[in-house]
Amino acid sequence: MTATKLFDLTGQVALVTGASSGLGVRFAEVLAEAGAVVALVARRADRLAAVKDAIEKNGGFAVAIGADVVDRDAMARAFDAVEQAFGTVTVLVNNAGVVTSGRAVEISEDDWRSVIGTNLDAVFFTAQEAARRMLAAGKGGAIVNIASMLGLRVAKGVAPYAVSKAGVIQLTKAMALELAFKGIRVNAIAPGWIVTDLNRDYLASEQGAAIKREIPAGRFGEARDLDGAMLLLASDAGRFMTGTTIVVDGGQVVAVRG
Ligand SMILES: NC(=O)c1ccc[n+]([C@@H]2O[C@H](COP(=O)([O-])OP(=O)(O)OC[C@H]3O[C@@H](n4cnc5c(N)ncnc54)[C@H](OP(=O)(O)O)[C@@H]3O)[C@@H](O)[C@H]2O)c1
Repeated sequence: MTATKLFDLTGQVALVTGASSGLGVRFAEVLAEAGAVVALVARRADRLAAVKDAIEKNGGFAVAIGADVVDRDAMARAFDAVEQAFGTVTVLVNNAGVVTSGRAVEISEDDWRSVIGTNLDAVFFTAQEAARRMLAAGKGGAIVNIASMLGLRVAKGVAPYAVSKAGVIQLTKAMALELAFKGIRVNAIAPGWIVTDLNRDYLASEQGAAIKREIPAGRFGEARDLDGAMLLLASDAGRFMTGTTIVVDGGQVVAVRG
């Protein structure tokens, strides 16, 4: 097998959460382009339908499933539907996420619980659901959790987000350790600032301009800057990698100053 064939995902069944916008759309496109059947999961069904159409116009294959990642029953039903139609999910991309801003002393209980509930609790329960099904089917697989540079460093005003993403990085290691022997790999990607709906307005502001000056690469990222990391972790190219977090941030995490 040639080295580039290692990235081939033909025969794999992928499920991407948060596939209705931003990074999730790009992850779904990339996995489909590499040959996987891709299940697109998010709450906005109209957006998912458009993503499915775009993937299929490009020669890929996708199904759209409206579900809230916080709702464990709905997620179990989503896995059931994919399994019945295509077989066990062998690649899970745990990407759905939300952010709030506010100083720690001011943040409401609802905001705290919403961020932790979506970005950490749901990531765990969705990974658990996927892993249980892989184990039951006797199949290996790849779980890719989307963390953040803010899981490694902190900024003012994002306490619940930073805590949730640090949790995702530790969860990735904990699950990797327990599942490695069964051929299930659990890794994470920690993106830096990538322009999406989550932050577009903020990054266009004066604060955004100041942030950009701190990025050694001199620019914000684009969703496609994560293509390589995603393909590596989802495919056989990363077959001896587990428990790791790949930082994709234009050098920001390692810099004292940009
Ligand atoms: N952009 C960045 O700079 C950056 C940096 C580091 C990490 N990240 C992480 O990357 C991931 C994607 O972010 P993004 O920038 O692509 O943001 P985005 O454009 O706002 O997309 C977020 C996605 O998550 C979905 N989602 C949110 N809550 C959900 C829920 N309860 N159930 C199902 N789906 C839900 C949204 O879909 P619906 O609203 O349709 O449900 C949407 O598809 C997040 O985990 C984020 O923390 C982003």
